[in-house]
Amino acid sequence: MKTIRFGVIGCGLMGREFASASARWCHLTGIDVRPEIVAICDKNRAIYDWYTASFPAIRQVTDDYRALLANPEVEAVYVAVPHNLHQEIYCAAIEAGKHLMGEKPFGIDKPACDAIMAALKRHPAVLARCSSESPFFPAMQKICDLIEREAFGRIIEVNTGFLHSSDLDAGKPINWKRMIQFNGEYGVMGDLGMHACHVPFRAGWFPRNVRAILSDIVKERPDGKGNTVPCLTWDNATLFSEVTDPATGEPFPWTLKTQRISPGQRNNWYAEILGTRISVRWSSVQADVLEILEYMGGEQAWRQLQTGHETAFKTITGDIFQFGFSDSILQMWASFVHELAHGKPIKRFAGCVTPDEAFLSHRLFTAALESQKSQATVAL
Ligand SMILES: NC(=O)c1ccc[n+]([C@@H]2O[C@H](COP(=O)([O-])OP(=O)(O)OC[C@H]3O[C@@H](n4cnc5c(N)ncnc54)[C@H](O)[C@@H]3O)[C@@H](O)[C@H]2O)c1
Repeated sequence: MKTIRFGVIGCGLMGREFASASARWCHLTGIDVRPEIVAICDKNRAIYDWYTASFPAIRQVTDDYRALLANPEVEAVYVAVPHNLHQEIYCAAIEAGKHLMGEKPFGIDKPACDAIMAALKRHPAVLARCSSESPFFPAMQKICDLIEREAFGRIIEVNTGFLHSSDLDAGKPINWKRMIQFNGEYGVMGDLGMHACHVPFRAGWFPRNVRAILSDIVKERPDGKGNTVPCLTWDNATLFSEVTDPATGEPFPWTLKTQRISPGQRNNWYAEILGTRISVRWSSVQADVLEILEYMGGEQAWRQLQTGHETAFKTITGDIFQFGFSDSILQMWASFVHELAHGKPIKRFAGCVTPDEAFLSHRLFTAALESQKSQATVAL
């Protein structure tokens, strides 16, 4: 088994998810490459013990990302830091020749993403990908197989999104994800949007235009120190786009929703594709239920298919068992290290977001901001 030595920069929520996935690599069968975390970097020293207690291969612990990038042992990095730091640290990693798994939105705004893209152009040997795990749910993989087979007939419409509700609580203290200076002007689109774009972009469904309706619902929040401060990030975003289906040359509407305030929804991805031959709908609320309607004339009926653990990367888990969030993280990481070792994903829809796809999301979200301002449809 080939080993790729990783450094983690930003060891918070997502850094730990990667670390945990790397610790259960034995869960995967038939993969010939594994990540090993040898270096970590975070400004918060309180997090170090969790890592060093569980990962004996860690030989460098630092609060200076430049020291980690100067470490010749480190071949690849996972950078999971607030959005205002993406450009600086991603570019430094690329300049240092380290392969990069970056987090979305891959730059706090379009100029930041432009700079990351320019750094990648200067270093073509670096493999960079952006994190997004939703396509790795087995039901989504089945939807992707249908896209691959052009099975939908003429696409009537597509709806994708990512819904949260924790911000419905107006008493929840503000954190960096609700502050423009750290999270960016995109607000919820920057946080949740890449997930909802991943499969449509991979399918070649590029928006020709966008009309966006963005909502700032909770305008101020406690700061956790007894004060109330403005909360200026967009809470919810609904984007209406026109897309041309490359399979048929016909246009269809795509509605993308990213919401932090969607009552009742904890952390749910969904996808719905309606076609003249086949329609499908899925939400991670019931992650193992895929609904399908096949139309061959006559009566129309939705049927429910229960998916199990039929994953892109095979695991020790039996096919009948349910799949969850941490499984999707493991699959996504399997995809990244597989691509690092073999130069391409095992299949089209089991690949991580490419920099070009991340860049496209920036074009979309930047146009969405413009649309909100002008109250008009913006061409892309
Ligand atoms: N793919 C997903 O499902 C998913 C989910 C949540 C967040 N994210 C993304 O992951 C990234 C990180 O989010 P998170 O939820 O892990 O945040 P977090 O706040 O839990 O972790 C960020 C970490 O970065 C550290 N940090 C800040 N400045 C640093 C610096 N200069 N050098 C080194 N470390 C520094 C912080 O101390 C913190 O530990 C963001 O881009 C976010 O959008 C992705």
